[in-house]
Amino acid sequence: MIELLDSPAEARAWCALRRERGERIGFVPTMGALHVGHLSLVERAVAENDAVCVSVFVNPLQFDDPRDLERYPRDLEGDARLLEGAGAAMVFTGTLAQFFPGELAADGSLAPERLVDPGPAAAGLEGAFRTGHFEGVATIVARLFDLVEPARVYFGRKDYQQALVVDDLARRRGGPRVVVCDIVREPTGLACSSRNALLSEAGRARAACLSRSLEAVDAAWREGARDAEELAALLREGLARDGVELDYAELRDPLAWSAEAPTGLLERAVALVAARVDGVRLIDNLELGAGGVARA
Ligand code: PAJ
Repeated sequence: MIELLDSPAEARAWCALRRERGERIGFVPTMGALHVGHLSLVERAVAENDAVCVSVFVNPLQFDDPRDLERYPRDLEGDARLLEGAGAAMVFTGTLAQFFPGELAADGSLAPERLVDPGPAAAGLEGAFRTGHFEGVATIVARLFDLVEPARVYFGRKDYQQALVVDDLARRRGGPRVVVCDIVREPTGLACSSRNALLSEAGRARAACLSRSLEAVDAAWREGARDAEELAALLREGLARDGVELDYAELRDPLAWSAEAPTGLLERAVALVAARVDGVRLIDNLELGAGGVARA
């Protein structure tokens, strides 16, 4: 049976006991409303560690839009059942006040000087469109690492820039090892996301244009297209045709993150998109020439 702990303090004690027994802990941080994408991280963690624990916490520090935070889907009991099936040993949750005891201001916020610097990978794209998002992510992730002290942590490539931010953070802190896992997609190509549950039937069909546009750029890349502006224009063209509300559709060098889009001829590229469908914000990305969009 999976253990369901509802405070970070209990989780800390559970993890300490496991580590004292010499067990290596694999850790998967999540915001819940779990789907097969999350479970793929848990299954990989189960295969590579002695015990796996998962956190489920809808972290208010990383939401720049109160409406997004309010309607974010929540289902802790369903999550615990799925996690048990995937082989996790423990799942824990908590409140912001429990994660930061004695550190919140009277209005319930965390003082700016307590926020963790997310580093250079936070510049541009998600960092530019969601003010304070990566500060919020880095702050909760650092706190979670302190509580769990895992050997390895598992993140998805779906949140491409987040994986870079977390990898930087872990390196600066001297651990844990960050394992980045491939994107799990629905049969239409739509990347699995907790927010997909908020889409209408028609919206879900329209949302598949994100991965379709990424695939079109990947096809052009495989045919030899290398011009940054041309590839980015192709990406935007596909999305404009399908009429989604675009935040960005850009290329980046996967080996050297920059706030600005690259220009000229590219040797490597990852295409990244963020768009709203039915008012729900979705993100996706694809490393060009790396094998395309793998469907479930
Ligand atoms: P959440 O969106 O719940 O995602 C938890 C982890 O699952 C992230 O590492 C994310 O990249 C991964 N994931 C989500 N969808 C995926 C998919 N389709 N395929 C593969 N992996 C996928 O990301 C967060 O939560 C939060 O920012 C968090 C790191 C927990 C900090 O609050």
